[in-house]
Amino acid sequence: MKTKAKQPTGGATAAIGSAPAPWPRVSASPTNAGSTERPEARPSRGTIYGRLFARFYDGAMKQLEREGGAELRHNLLAHASGRTLELGAGTGLNLEHYPEAVTELTLTEPDPHMVKRLRCRLEESGRDATIIQAQAEQLPFDAGAIDTVVSTWTLCTVDDPDAVLAEVARVLDTGGRFLFLEHVRSEDSERTARRQDRVTPLVRRAICGCRPNRRTLATIEASPLELEHVRWGEQPKGSLPWEKPMIVGIARKPSI
Ligand SMILES: C[S@@+](CC[C@H](N)C(=O)[O-])C[C@H]1O[C@@H](n2cnc3c(N)ncnc32)[C@H](O)[C@@H]1O
Repeated sequence: MKTKAKQPTGGATAAIGSAPAPWPRVSASPTNAGSTERPEARPSRGTIYGRLFARFYDGAMKQLEREGGAELRHNLLAHASGRTLELGAGTGLNLEHYPEAVTELTLTEPDPHMVKRLRCRLEESGRDATIIQAQAEQLPFDAGAIDTVVSTWTLCTVDDPDAVLAEVARVLDTGGRFLFLEHVRSEDSERTARRQDRVTPLVRRAICGCRPNRRTLATIEASPLELEHVRWGEQPKGSLPWEKPMIVGIARKPSI
C-alpha cells in the first residue's frame, strides 16, 4: 500500500545520499561525434542558453560537490546495479560514482551542448557507457529493459515530470529501482514555498528550465512506482538560495 512521505519539520539535514529506436546514439569516440544511427531523427541543436549552461555547469557545481554533493551522489549510486539508465546526465558528474554492480550504463541527455561535455568526461573516465541524446519523457527503451534508473537534479528541469515517471515505470523491470536526488518545493515552511513560487518563472527562464517549486515527491508517489525510502535534507553549501529542501530516495517498480 502506498503511504505519503512528508517533509519532517525543523529542516533536518540528511546525508544519504535493446535497441534504442529513432534516437541519436552518440558515440564516446570523437570520430563519430554526433553521428546518428537513423538519419531521419532530428536531435535538438540546442540554444545559446543551453550552450552557456553547459559551459558553466561544472564551475557552478564545484562548491556544492565539495561540500557534500559528491558524497550524496556516491551514497545514492551505491544502490545502482545491472542495466542502468541515467536521465539528464548533464556533464557526467555521476560517472565516477557508479559501482561495479552496474553491468551496462546508458546516459541520456537531451541538450547537445551537455552531450558534448558528457562525451569528453566519458572518454576521460575510461568507462564503458553509451550516450543517447534523448528526453526523459520519451525513453528509447523497451518495457522492462532496465534495472536501475537514476535522476540527480534533473526532475526540476524536465518539461513533464508525470510523463517522465510513467516512462521510468515502463522501462524498469519488475523490482527495478528508481534512484533520485532532487531539490523540491518546501513543505515545512510556507514562507520558503511562497518565495519559491515567486522566483520560479524567472529561475525557469534564467537557468534552463529549472523549477524550484516542483513537488517532485508527490509526482513519484502518484506514479506506478512504490516509494521504498526517502530522506529530506538541506542542499549542500554552494546551492542557490531557492534550491531547498532536497529529497534523496529510492522507489521500486512493484510486481503487478
Ligand atoms: C541541473 S542539470 C543536472 C545534470 C546532472 N543530472 C547532474 O546531476 O549534475 C539538469 C539536466 O537535465 C537535462 N534536461 C532538461 N530537460 C530534460 C528532459 N526533458 N529530459 C531529460 N533531461 C533533461 C538538462 O539538459 C541538464 O543536463
